[in-house]
Amino acid sequence: MCGIVAALAAHNIVPVLVQGLQRLEYRGYDSCGLALQGAGGLQRSRSTARVAELQAQVQADELAAHSGIAHTRWATHGAPALHNAHPHFSHGPGQHAPGDEAALGPARVALVHNGIIENHEALRAELQAQGYVFSSQTDTEVIAHLVDALYQGDLLAAVRAALARLHGAYAIAVLHAAEPQRLVGARAGSPLVLGLGSGVDAGGEPSGLSAQYLASDVMALAGVTDQFVYLAEGDVVDLQPGGYLIVERGGQPQSPAQRPVRTVQAHSGAAELGPYRHYMQKEIFEQPRALADTLEGIEAVGPDLFDGLGERAAIAAEVFGQIDRVLILACGTSYYSGCVAKYWLEDLAGLPTQVEVASEYRYRRSVPDPRTLVVAISQSGETADTLAALRHAQGLGMVHTLALCNVSTSALVRECALAYLTRAGVEIGVASTKAFSTQLAGLFLLTLALAQARGRLSAAEQAEHLHAMRHLPLALQAVLALEPQLIQWAEAFAPREHALFLGRGLHYPIALEGALKLKEISYIHAEAYPAGELKHGPLALVTSAMPVVVVAPNDELLEKLKSNMQEVRARGGVLYVLADADSHIQSAEGLHVIRLPEHYGPLSPILHVVPLQLLAYHTALVRGTDVDKPRNLAKSVTVE
Ligand code: M6R
Repeated sequence: MCGIVAALAAHNIVPVLVQGLQRLEYRGYDSCGLALQGAGGLQRSRSTARVAELQAQVQADELAAHSGIAHTRWATHGAPALHNAHPHFSHGPGQHAPGDEAALGPARVALVHNGIIENHEALRAELQAQGYVFSSQTDTEVIAHLVDALYQGDLLAAVRAALARLHGAYAIAVLHAAEPQRLVGARAGSPLVLGLGSGVDAGGEPSGLSAQYLASDVMALAGVTDQFVYLAEGDVVDLQPGGYLIVERGGQPQSPAQRPVRTVQAHSGAAELGPYRHYMQKEIFEQPRALADTLEGIEAVGPDLFDGLGERAAIAAEVFGQIDRVLILACGTSYYSGCVAKYWLEDLAGLPTQVEVASEYRYRRSVPDPRTLVVAISQSGETADTLAALRHAQGLGMVHTLALCNVSTSALVRECALAYLTRAGVEIGVASTKAFSTQLAGLFLLTLALAQARGRLSAAEQAEHLHAMRHLPLALQAVLALEPQLIQWAEAFAPREHALFLGRGLHYPIALEGALKLKEISYIHAEAYPAGELKHGPLALVTSAMPVVVVAPNDELLEKLKSNMQEVRARGGVLYVLADADSHIQSAEGLHVIRLPEHYGPLSPILHVVPLQLLAYHTALVRGTDVDKPRNLAKSVTVE
């Protein structure tokens, strides 16, 4: 989603802002911009192109400053256009010259914002009545004008007063022209961290606080500092040269909140692409490594793999003894991994399992059960809907919570009692790939641990499952070697506008994931169905113009699936079948078969998803879309 980076330092902060934006760009790339406190007051530079263009603009103008705020945008309110790009300015009431900034008086407030202000329309009307003229369609601009309207010589006080009027989610960074040595930030519902940078004395030792930063993700400041303060919900932070002050929600500046400073070795995410053209391709091919890392050091499965890490840390062995059902909350690809886990948890651990789309669950009146293990799955750990659903479940009295997440410092991990960290490594491509397969591995380990805790897993069965998991990296290599055949399929898919994906049982969620991957990056409309549902409606869509992908492992449902495939063939549909080496499905007219390794038992979904990732990737390549930054999307969805 949108990214924020801001800085106040004794040195020129423009390079840090631009580098921070580059690192956050994959999270939102509709526009970008920065505002600086210069000798002549507040100035800004914005672009609807990529950060590289903004950088060129900034370099050409030789911009330099000791304080500034910057933003990369994923549009919510208002089209991706220059006038909607952040930072937003307030010039005070009565200042209006659309399209002619030079005719406006000097800017008084500059502000960047992540999140959504729900009462922005009412506030807009109120501010317009006071003479404020809006130059954007964003909800953000109301905050800038509100701060201006409430400013009486103290930026912290004005920001706190403005925040008291807002409903919704925000992370903000604000500058005021009258206080060039001050930067104020705040967060509620959207992440914001404070980074602390020290100077260096003559002996090379850190000395004093010479730079302070704000960022929506520590990644933006990798290599700039490793000292971070995670701001809590409702915190407002006031940065001034040499020190900062945090005021918690309901608190007062006279008694500032104390937050621990943590050392975090943030990863810049700017990993080398190596021989790959795109991060998505690289991340698909990293899956054998990620799966090998997942198993590293695991001699036996036990509850301790899931012990807590966050602020509410708990001991999994105790929790596992107290639960008798599972509720999984997640969005998108993470939701589909939860759907696979439902089959495992019910089959192997005998635990009734419910999987809910987080954005639905949070608003649904459901029946809470305190003996539930709530599993929140998220690559980023910052997805607003998943966090809200988790908090909703906690609010209903469900205290046994487990984060399955790829980011150890995320809000999700901090807020859950238990945690399992997937070992995918940083995932940059908007289309999630290695996060999904490592989530599946983590969920399978969770299933085994719960089955063991419930006396449903013998030592021999555990050893057999672990043996199969250890062999996964090799099996995945064999699947990745199928890429040339998938490139051929991609040529056939690229001219199409619709595709259908079918699967059954454990592999129905894999069909869903395959359809999501294809639509997300190639913009081909794709739908997935449990194959048995075909005849209840979607069969009407089948013609030779709609390719039908079938995930067809050699499991107990294969014969049923073959009948469903016949239903498609009989209507002239063209089938693209992912079969196992040990099944006897042969290619024929209108029936294209790619063979994976032999059937892989319950872990088969981890293998079968990979060709679908490659199919989506190569189809997108043929269609010439922006694979790593697909239109309208962003990496982590930190707004509702
Ligand atoms: O970070 P999360 O796993 O919580 O993200 C959830 C979804 O937004 C994400 O999986 C999305 O669906 C991906 N772009 C799919 O490839």
